[in-house]
Amino acid sequence: LFVDASTGSSRPIPDTLFGIFFEEINHAGAGGLWAELVSNRGFEAGGPNVPSNINPWAIIGNETSLIVSTDRSSCFDRNKVALRMEVLCDSQDTNICPSEGVGIYNPGFWGMNIEQGKSYKVVFYVRSTDAINIDVSLTGSNGLQLLASANIVAPASDVSDWTRMEVLLEAKGTNHNSRLQLTTTQKGVIWFDQVSAMPMDTYKGHGFRNELFQMLADIKPRFIRFPGGCFVEGEWLRNAFRWKETIGPWEERPGHFGDVWMYWTDDGFGHFEFLQLAEDLNALPVWVFNNGIGHQDQVDTASVLPFVQEALDGIEFARGDPSSKWGSVRAEMGHPEPFNLKYVAVGNEDCGKKNYRGNYLKFYDAIKRTYPDIQIISNCDGSSRLLDHPADFYDFHVYTSASNLFSMAHQFDRTSRIGPKAFVSEYAVTGKDAGTGSLYAALAEAAFLIGLEKNSDIVQMASYAPLFVHANDRRWNPDAIVFNSSHAYGTPSYWVQRFFAESSGATLLNSTLKTNSSKSLIASAITWQSEDSETYLRIKFVNLGNSSVYLSIIVNGLDSNSKLIGSTKTVLTSTNLMDENSFMQPGKVAPNQTDLLIGALNKINVVVQPFSLTSF
Ligand code: AHR
Repeated sequence: LFVDASTGSSRPIPDTLFGIFFEEINHAGAGGLWAELVSNRGFEAGGPNVPSNINPWAIIGNETSLIVSTDRSSCFDRNKVALRMEVLCDSQDTNICPSEGVGIYNPGFWGMNIEQGKSYKVVFYVRSTDAINIDVSLTGSNGLQLLASANIVAPASDVSDWTRMEVLLEAKGTNHNSRLQLTTTQKGVIWFDQVSAMPMDTYKGHGFRNELFQMLADIKPRFIRFPGGCFVEGEWLRNAFRWKETIGPWEERPGHFGDVWMYWTDDGFGHFEFLQLAEDLNALPVWVFNNGIGHQDQVDTASVLPFVQEALDGIEFARGDPSSKWGSVRAEMGHPEPFNLKYVAVGNEDCGKKNYRGNYLKFYDAIKRTYPDIQIISNCDGSSRLLDHPADFYDFHVYTSASNLFSMAHQFDRTSRIGPKAFVSEYAVTGKDAGTGSLYAALAEAAFLIGLEKNSDIVQMASYAPLFVHANDRRWNPDAIVFNSSHAYGTPSYWVQRFFAESSGATLLNSTLKTNSSKSLIASAITWQSEDSETYLRIKFVNLGNSSVYLSIIVNGLDSNSKLIGSTKTVLTSTNLMDENSFMQPGKVAPNQTDLLIGALNKINVVVQPFSLTSF
């Protein structure tokens, strides 16, 4: 491999090149990164009409001890459904309640992770015609292991109207499959609404599950695209993600049924929280909004103005002055400083739809008029022909086999360099090559990313998809991070992302590979600066062939102050190409770092293992 490190042939890689795409799919947010433990906290998931399905809430007791139903008596205007619990037994009655009480429980998202010594804030709204005496407890999945509890007592006069209750529970045991119980041994009628249980130790108290947040931070993403994907579109527009329904106090948010990925979200993870996540990750937010188009229906261009106004308002919410209408709402939510929103995408995968171009232009004109600096991303692919409409970026999505993606490392070699830049906002190997996250898929993705590094004059942003999957709700396969209530691991595709953490903002060096293995080998060379301003050289190879490749790396023109590579070699490989990670073996396919002994800095002899991604 010949590497020319002289400044004349090098070129800067955009600061934004590698980021992440967060979609509410596979319970990525609700039950995932968003740490809320209660699922369906407002009892709205069965829809706005009553009687309503309260799933996954369930009843403790039987028909002789209590009657549980729903009505529309909530104090929250946008989510009227409340739970009514008529307790028929009593501790002082002939119909004696069981000693553990009767009531309701919520198992969270396939079990709550409760950990010894940690604290959980439980908030709920209650109303009753009688005095109340309620036990709030965290227990094992069958209610037997008591992990934490508090007793709430109030006279009828205090709870005759909706009243907010809050308790802090400290767990005295650990159980990854726990539940939250609200029980009583006292006759009467009690209404419940908006029941929340939040761990106290979320990232900066912002509500993000710590270890999942950390896995994202370790990728060092330069941007985060959110909140979808198809989630933004909805199968039907009435079920699309609409940002105004997801802001303000969590109790007042209506929640919605995401009818593409077919699950309910309470929308605790809303527009504000996405922007906060971006800020916490030090990543630029890339907001994808609905452009009046769902999978099955669309708004005519003549009627799209309310959607345009909604997008403008969403931008004002993110970055408007705190004295502006929507900026003031953001400030009230605790963030007076504007978020750094500079990129928006008009819809997702809607280019082929009848009204896309017409609608797009309305958004484009209105946004550029009000916010000329905002970069606008079109859904139409401009890689093979020029767009017929103005845009700063065009979206490019690819899900394909490993061999296709490997060869797509050259996809942008011949793309026109004039016009909008490319944003590869979704890519992955899917199908049989991918299993549920194979080494094979990851290596092809790494080769594709090396191709993007080399074409980063035109491809300025790229993100893998999807990011997360809850192991109990796999709606899309494969994904970068697999988790359940308590554990998480990265698929090999996740680990590939880590190899590219230093690429954004680095310098791409001209490199030429001379080998007989060129059909299965690809390489790139960059220099990048560490936080202490040292310059490092990094060379990455993907070898998708089944034999080792022996190479000399010859580097010319390297600044004598540059640190070599040299000291370490990091390899992602495994015994079999289809090997995967799992909860049992989370590190089966993970990078392995070893010391590398090198001689002269300008000529290094290396061995690149079969089926590997190697970085020197
Ligand atoms: O990443 C999963 C889905 O794939 C996204 O929601 C959509 O944009 C694409 O079709």
